[in-house]
This record gives sequence, structure tokens and C-alpha cells, in this order.
Amino acid sequence: MGDAACWLDEVCDACGSVPDAGRCRCRPTGVDPRAAPGGRPRSPIEQLAWAETPRGVINLRRRFDPTLGRDVHEVKLGDEFLMSSLFTVAEEELARLGLAAHDGDDLCVVVGGLGLGCTARTALEDERTGELLVVEALPEVVSWHEQGLLPGADELVADPRTRLVTGDFFAMVRGDGFDPDAAGRAVDVVLLDVDHTPGHVLHASHAPFYTAEGLRGLRAHLAPGGVFALWSDDPPDDGFLATLDGVFDDARAHVVAFPNPLTGGEAANTVYVAR
Ligand SMILES: C[S@@+](CC[C@H](N)C(=O)[O-])C[C@H]1O[C@@H](n2cnc3c(N)ncnc32)[C@H](O)[C@@H]1O
Repeated sequence: MGDAACWLDEVCDACGSVPDAGRCRCRPTGVDPRAAPGGRPRSPIEQLAWAETPRGVINLRRRFDPTLGRDVHEVKLGDEFLMSSLFTVAEEELARLGLAAHDGDDLCVVVGGLGLGCTARTALEDERTGELLVVEALPEVVSWHEQGLLPGADELVADPRTRLVTGDFFAMVRGDGFDPDAAGRAVDVVLLDVDHTPGHVLHASHAPFYTAEGLRGLRAHLAPGGVFALWSDDPPDDGFLATLDGVFDDARAHVVAFPNPLTGGEAANTVYVAR
């Protein structure tokens, strides 16, 4: 237990130091303590769950990344990589930047796209989050969290502020909003991370959302002072920013850069924030 924590937790509970690429004070060589007896490495990729969905087979797998010295969880839908826990800085910044743009308290926050739960968990770190509605299209993803198959899932699910809602975020924008128990209810902050970019969507039915008309539909679900924030894999897109700016009073694009130990360089995502 103590050994495993050395690799999985932020602080090793054996020596109390913070592991760096899997190496803490009591394991300076970074040997994977979960290796099978005799030093044989465990299977590099473990399938934790899979299911048939209308969009193809969805797969949750865990692999040990020797460069990072830690486990990486990945989700594939059909042939496409849907998400990975390799880098989650920008998913977390989506929550921080979106919430920072709101100056109210006791906020009703909506996260579009549960994924690995990083955005949702970060939203809960802000004590002004009074309620968190996480809208996820795939019941399998919700179920993985409820079963505790993902790191941090238990704390997300157990938090009394959290409600996991299975549904299509974009249909909810076109319809009665995000709270299945309160049709038409206005919310304070919407944090969206479903598509790769506003122009590279997972499904054709998502594309109209990223137009002025689609964004006006989202704005109609925001209470006064409300904030909409969006993650994107690409650098800031001036055309999309102009569309956002035309719908909201203020729109900005934040470049979130983070080190990429796999390349030795830097990577970046964009977080748009509009209010
Ligand atoms: C990139 S992941 C989100 C990652 C998340 N920000 C995190 O911190 O882990 C995108 C998620 O959106 C979900 N999704 C796809 N289409 C959706 C839709 N129409 N409505 C709601 N969720 C959707 C996917 O199943 C996936 O769980």
C-alpha cells in the first residue's frame, strides 16, 4: 500500500517527499514497486473497462509511462483518443479561469464533458462552487466514476455538491437547460470541454453550437454575471474569438502552456472565457 502510494500520490506516504517522475527519497532509482516478483515489469497496458456504444467501442485503459514515472489513464472511442491523463493542466485551468471570471458566491457550476473528471474536481476546489452539475453523454463514463475506476473519482462522486447528469450537453443548450430537476433554471458558470476545438468537433451535431446562434443559446441559460469558458486544443482562433465577443460583453483567449516531459519542450492549449 505504502509503496503503491509512492507512485500514485502527490506525497509519498513512506518518506513524505514529493515524487518527481516517480522518484522519491525512498525510491531514488524510480523502480516501479508494482513490478511483478523477479523484477518483471507488469503489463504495460491494462484494460480497465470497455463497452459497445452507438459511436463505437469505448475503452478505458491504464498504462505505466516510464518517462513520467506514473500511470496514465486513457479513453479511446473507436479509433479516436478521447482523453488522456497525460497532461491535465489546461483542463484544470479551464475551471480556475472560468470561476475566476465570476465575482459571485454560492455558484451553480456546469461542466460539459466529465471525461477523467479533472475539470470537475478543480471546480470543487473553489469554495464558491455551491453546486456542480456535470453533463456527460456516455453513461459508461459516468459509471466508471461511480465505480471508482479513475483516480479522484470517489471524492468527486461523494462530494454533496456534485450531480452527474447523463445527457447531451448541446441538446440541453437547445432545450430546457442543464438541471433535469429544474427546467429552465439559469446557472452561473459553464465550463465546456467536449470537442477538440470549435472547428474540430467529435460529432457533426455539435458544430452549430460554436456559431453566434448556438452561443446565444448558451448565454440564455446564464444568470446575470454568468461566465462561459471553453477548452480548445488549438492556439487562439481569431474568428471564433470574434464570434464569442459578438455574443458576450467580454471575451478573451488564454494560452495555457505547460512542460511536456516526453518531448522536453512545451505544449499549450487555449481556454476561452466569455461573460
Ligand atoms: C475531453 S473529455 C473531457 C475531459 C475533462 N475536461 C476532464 O477534465 O477530464 C470529453 C468528454 O465529453 C463527453 N462528451 C462527448 N460528447 C458529449 C455531449 N454531446 N454532451 C456531453 N458530453 C459529451 C465525452 O464522452 C468525454 O467524456
